[in-house]
Amino acid sequence: MSSTERMSSNPGFLPGHSDQLQLLMRAVECARNGIVITDPSRTDNPIIYANPAFSQLTGYANEQIIGRNCRFLQRDDREQPAVKELRDAISKEVPITTILKNYRRNGSHFWNELTVSPVKDEHGKVSNFVGVQNDVTARIDSEKRVQEFYSVISHELRTPLTSIHGALTAVEDGSAGRVNAQVMRLIRIAVDNSTRLMRLINDILDWKQLEAGKFKLNLANFDPQEAVESVVHELQATAEGKMVILVPEILPHHPILADQDRIVQILSNLTANAIKFSPPKGIVKIRLEAPARDTIRFTVTDQGPGIPPAQMDKLFVRFQQLDSSDTRKKGGSGLGLAICKAIVELHGGNIGVSSQVNEGSSFWFEIFS
Ligand SMILES: Cc1cc2nc3c(=O)[nH]c(=O)nc-3n(C[C@H](O)[C@H](O)[C@H](O)COP(=O)(O)O)c2cc1C
Repeated sequence: MSSTERMSSNPGFLPGHSDQLQLLMRAVECARNGIVITDPSRTDNPIIYANPAFSQLTGYANEQIIGRNCRFLQRDDREQPAVKELRDAISKEVPITTILKNYRRNGSHFWNELTVSPVKDEHGKVSNFVGVQNDVTARIDSEKRVQEFYSVISHELRTPLTSIHGALTAVEDGSAGRVNAQVMRLIRIAVDNSTRLMRLINDILDWKQLEAGKFKLNLANFDPQEAVESVVHELQATAEGKMVILVPEILPHHPILADQDRIVQILSNLTANAIKFSPPKGIVKIRLEAPARDTIRFTVTDQGPGIPPAQMDKLFVRFQQLDSSDTRKKGGSGLGLAICKAIVELHGGNIGVSSQVNEGSSFWFEIFS
């Protein structure tokens, strides 16, 4: 039986006290994380032990470490929130895990994911602290790069695109003056494409907020009929362009407490999809009803090609489009339905689909009040 097997089944089976200590010592010396032990009974809680990985991580030799408080790794960078968190946890003698910026002997910085735990003696009194250092620089740096990428998308891409789109729309709706039919044809193509690009950018930014749990809903009471009307108004021209007929079906209903803009966004996404997949002269129904006193249900039904049963569970998963050749033909970020699902679920609601191949699909979602 190996010593690890003996340890895990029963630590008392270790051959002797000094063997056990030697094993622990070797394990700590071989660990890839930095490990330090401090002595709070001495002035300023100095380090009394540091393993080789701590020296390797920080670039300091053992004799430059022992006897100092660990804060020397912070240099002048003392205003970090994590430093205060550490001070508080240590004074309360509770364990803490945090991330802070530290500096190596050569002046370069690293992000230290640090866990400090009190070590208690046989009377339950804290005799020492043990600190475990994990260099998470690569992770933090890549998170920062991702953050920068989103900020570029938001500021350098969305902001100018919004103004291009605004200018093109002003030409399209005539408010910028008259243009001839040939120019108008080009303008319409440009408006269509800038709309698609804006939708894609907004989808990417929404998805990021949703994933980070930072997506906020503005809840208010409103009449859900307004959402249906606004979507019909918004997509009427697109539907006409594809010779698709939009039919709102408003059944008895009641007000809901929800984020109106987001409900419009979901309904608009489902309706735009339905138009996209409709045959010419196809009908897209947008139905509003209250199947129960506390429930409002929206259903968007098309007469498109339908969805094969095997593909159904892929639908609401991000970056899944059912068929990549279709994606190119129909456009779309592959995020739309995943975003709809996430926003419906943030409202505490449900979303789903029923479909018959060659007959059409019905996408629905329910919001509870
Ligand atoms: C066991 C132990 C390990 C520590 N390791 C580090 C470390 O690796 N890097 C660091 O910046 N601070 C570390 N600290 C925290 C500092 O020693 C100190 O507690 C912190 O800076 C807050 O206290 P201060 O305001 O007195 O500096 C550690 C503390 C303890 C008890």
